[in-house]
Amino acid sequence: MRSDILYLDNAATSYPKPESVYSALADFLRTDGANPGRAGHRMAVRAEKSIEETRVLLAQFFGISSPHRVIFTLNTTDSLNIGIKGTVKDGDHVITSLLEHNSVSRPLKQLEQDGRITLTQVPFSQAGFIDPGDIEKAISPRTRLIVLTHASNVLGTVQPIREVAKIAREHDLLFLVDAAQTAGVLPIQMEEDQIDLLALPGHKAMLGPTGVGVLVVGERSSLSAWREGGTGGDSSSPVQPGELPYRLEGGTPNTVGIAGLRAGVEFVVEETLARIQGHETRLLGRLIEALKDDPRFQLYGSQDLNRRVATLTLTVAGYTAPEAGAILDEAFHIAVRPGLHCAPYAHRSLGTFPDGAIRISAGFFNTEEEIDRCVVALKEIAAG
Ligand code: ALA
Repeated sequence: MRSDILYLDNAATSYPKPESVYSALADFLRTDGANPGRAGHRMAVRAEKSIEETRVLLAQFFGISSPHRVIFTLNTTDSLNIGIKGTVKDGDHVITSLLEHNSVSRPLKQLEQDGRITLTQVPFSQAGFIDPGDIEKAISPRTRLIVLTHASNVLGTVQPIREVAKIAREHDLLFLVDAAQTAGVLPIQMEEDQIDLLALPGHKAMLGPTGVGVLVVGERSSLSAWREGGTGGDSSSPVQPGELPYRLEGGTPNTVGIAGLRAGVEFVVEETLARIQGHETRLLGRLIEALKDDPRFQLYGSQDLNRRVATLTLTVAGYTAPEAGAILDEAFHIAVRPGLHCAPYAHRSLGTFPDGAIRISAGFFNTEEEIDRCVVALKEIAAG
């Protein structure tokens, strides 16, 4: 059974999930739902094995040789907070961009407000791209960390992370990438791409359930413990063990969510990133093509399909974003995300603050017919 809503809010969380994800969640809870690593009985061992196999799968998927550097978290926000706060020291300078989600900008702004760090937020072009040269210019002797989104959650524009990674290495800085909108759609190979910390959600394009995120910690990064607590195995140490993943994984993990995430990643691997991205890009192209020459719609960001993920943000003449979003939901049963998308700096730069815009984000399970239905609805709304 599937919702009768036409779901176009995949940038917030993917829906539906593959059937294998639903089964994995139910099967795990029914048969293996013990506490991993906390006992030697068979159910606990099976739960532990499920987690460790998922770590191995994720390490392969993101091109990192040590699976123990794959850390399970609550979500991307959790991963980013652990990555940022576990890295910076008092007096550091951090570079980020005006495209960032609040999960990056809020922790950094708070550290800045508390007088602990100084911060540079580089701008982006009208098309929606940061210039790596701006990052390089902002580097000072106090800079420790660069934090950048891989693709904007407002514009869908893919940022030049490989160029920025090269700059980070040349200046011996750490580079943290927010892959909330790209993990499961675009290839990311941490070691080859020279990324030090990679934060991602399990519940978006990785097709897992909510409540599980991932932080991949590269060899150059050594994060301090975020929360201390039980890690199973050897309980004798008076403080949090130094080894990964235990240093960053105190407390019972989300075993069920991890089992669902594993099924999601397996689905992505089988479908292949190329096919997933190809399908989503075709849907985006169809949407842009249908709206771009209609003066009642303002589309934001580059229309170059080679430099985007399948997220389109727009405004409809005569309607605020909350109004248009509510009509799409109530009159047309179409789910999109109106507003600021937790990215206020991006909307200020675009001139869409404070109402924001409507974000339409197709996923792998959407069809061309559904995109056409959305276009018809938008045109009916615009016609008043
Ligand atoms: N970060 C998610 C979004 O952009 C929730 O909608």
